[in-house]
Amino acid sequence: TTVNWSAEQTGKSGYAHFMLKEIHEQPTALRQGLSGRLDELAGQVTVDELDGLETPTTVQFVACGTSYHAAMFGVETLRTAGIPAQTFLASEYATGPPPIGNETLVVGVTQSGETADTLSALREASARGAETLALTNVVDSTAARECDHVLYIRSGPEIGVAATKTFSSQLVALTLFSAALVDQRGEESRERVAALRALPSDLQYVLDESRTADVVDAYLDSAAYFFIGRGPNYPVALEGALKFKEITYEHAEGFAAGELKHGTLALVTGETPVFAVVTGDDERARKTIGNVKEVEARDAPVIAVTDGVAGVEQYADHVLEIPNTHPQTAPVLANAQLQLVAYHMANRLGRSIDKPRNLAKSVTVE
Ligand code: AGP
Repeated sequence: TTVNWSAEQTGKSGYAHFMLKEIHEQPTALRQGLSGRLDELAGQVTVDELDGLETPTTVQFVACGTSYHAAMFGVETLRTAGIPAQTFLASEYATGPPPIGNETLVVGVTQSGETADTLSALREASARGAETLALTNVVDSTAARECDHVLYIRSGPEIGVAATKTFSSQLVALTLFSAALVDQRGEESRERVAALRALPSDLQYVLDESRTADVVDAYLDSAAYFFIGRGPNYPVALEGALKFKEITYEHAEGFAAGELKHGTLALVTGETPVFAVVTGDDERARKTIGNVKEVEARDAPVIAVTDGVAGVEQYADHVLEIPNTHPQTAPVLANAQLQLVAYHMANRLGRSIDKPRNLAKSVTVE
């Protein structure tokens, strides 16, 4: 089945590249994903598609690439909801599936709904008796049709090979999914709903105010680029590095901030800019500042992506700001800054941004 989106939706609408258009479509995409799913009076999330779903005892995510990074974020949102979860590379899961207990829910995170590795993993899970759910962007995609349940992220068509708005829409959908599975009462639930309600305009502010083009000019031709973060910002660091690699063809790596000193720090010099994602002011933020000091002591240039709460900017050469919001929305805002870093660097290098070499939008072969 082909989904017929309008020419307006699939044209560049005056942007130089589909990727840039889709980065700037994110506030609208998130509004679509949130529409009808926030009960602000009750301070609760309501996701109709999940009404028939029993709360699972454990969730196994299967995904690839950017969607795997989104699934890692989903593990974090489920952890805060008190539901054990684990994420698996779909290409590994299909040929070596983990044990499946009763009431295990296997969630395929796949924007296209056609990724062969993810479909194989979901089929393997289903064959072993697991309930399956597709978290996808394409109505009636193979994943949507074959799974027991489906949750649409409603991001609209994404033409650029590098996933941008669909990643943000996945993060929001996973936040909604995790909240909808549990009994949402009290202040924590109200704060989450308010933060989600404000997220599209917070994201618009980040896109309008971003100064990434200046930062990029300062770090052209570096030996390598590192991205670090903790907790829900760890998948953001990985995704920032993947975006960067995919479209600039420069070497970039994402790390759990605490991992640098276990080896990779040997690579860090004055020629290796480190993008550090630090949001909020919890122990993770404070420990990440410690990691920033580690790399700064090796003369590495530091670009802090931060809401300014924990004070990391004093150790940074550049700061990419985001507003001070909520633990589950800050990563979406930080990610937008890193999307623009990758875009502007690739543009400076004259790369084929919408169709990077060797890559396909949906990998329908294993
Ligand atoms: C990300 O920019 C890439 N396009 C790629 O990693 C993609 O996320 C991956 O192939 C999974 O695609 P899916 O979400 O359609 O399953």
